[in-house]
Amino acid sequence: MRHLLSPLDFSVEELDTLLNLASDIEANPEKYAHACEGKKLATLFYEPSTRTRLSHEAAMLNLGGSVMGFASEDSSSASKGESVADTIRVISCYADICAMRHPKEGAPMVACMHSSIPVINAGDGGHQHPTQTLTDLMTIRSLKGRLDHMTIGLCGDLKFGRTVHSLIHALVRYPGIRFVLISPEELRLPDYIRHDVLDMNDIPYKEVVRLEDALPELDILYMTRVQKERFFNEEDYVRMKDFYILDKEKMAMAPEEMYVLHPLPRVNEIAVEVDDDPRAAYFRQVQYGVYVRMALILTLLDIHVD
Ligand code: NCD
Repeated sequence: MRHLLSPLDFSVEELDTLLNLASDIEANPEKYAHACEGKKLATLFYEPSTRTRLSHEAAMLNLGGSVMGFASEDSSSASKGESVADTIRVISCYADICAMRHPKEGAPMVACMHSSIPVINAGDGGHQHPTQTLTDLMTIRSLKGRLDHMTIGLCGDLKFGRTVHSLIHALVRYPGIRFVLISPEELRLPDYIRHDVLDMNDIPYKEVVRLEDALPELDILYMTRVQKERFFNEEDYVRMKDFYILDKEKMAMAPEEMYVLHPLPRVNEIAVEVDDDPRAAYFRQVQYGVYVRMALILTLLDIHVD
C-alpha cells in the first residue's frame, strides 16, 4: 500500500506518469467520471483549510466516489483526547483512502504506521505539503512546458512555509534548476533545507531581501503568505506581514514570460490589481490542483482507466 507523505515518495518517473494522468484527466474528464464509484475518501483536518480539503473532496466526487470527514479538531474526538493512531485505525474501517492535515509535523507519518488505507499528507505543521507541490509542478509544467532549466524565485515566509519546503525538495531533482530565495532575514529558509537539500545537491541559489532585485531574472515567482499561526508572538507577525507586496509597478520589472504562483490564501502579498495580469497564474493553479489530486487518488488506490 502506498501513502503520500513527501513529494519524494514518488520518483521523477512516477511523478511524470502522475502528471501525464492529470493532464489526460484535464483533457477527458468524462472518461474518469465513474472510476472511483463505491470508494470513499475521508478528510481528517485538524487545521483550517479551504482549498486543500475541498479540492480533495472535489477530486473524489469528480471520480464518482463519495466523501466524509471533519474540518476541525474541535469537531473530532481529538478534542476528547483521542490519538492520531487510534483515529486512523477507526477511519480505516470506514473509508478507502484519507487526506490528513495536522498542526504537528509528522502526524500523517504516525497515521500511516497505523493505517490500513492510503494516507495523503495534506499539510503537517511547517514541514511538508506534498499535494500542493504536485499542484505547483503541474502548473509550472502546463505553463512553461517543462520542469527543468528554470530560475524559480521563492518569496515571503520561507521559514515556516511548508509549501516552499516541499516544492524545493521536488524541484532539485530536475536539471538546471536555480533558486532565488527572497525573504526578510528573520524568515529565511531553515538551515536544514539550505544545507541538506540545496548544498548537498549542488543546487545554485542566492538569497536576497528585496523582491525588486530578483524579479528581472525569474521564470517563476512563487509568492507565499506570512504564516501567522506559526509565530510565537503577534508583534513579530505584524512587523513581517506586509514586508512584500507584489503590485503592478513591480510586475513591470518582471519578464513577459514570468508566471506568478501562490498556494493561496493570499493576504496582502499580492495586490488585487495584479490578478488581471496574464502572468498571474494563482487561480489557474487552483484548477490544476483538482486534476492532480484526481490523478493521485487513482494512483494510490491503484485504479486504472482504459
Ligand atoms: C497553504 C498551506 O496550508 O500551507 N495553503 C494551501 O494549502 N493552499 C499555504 C498557506 O496557508 O499559506
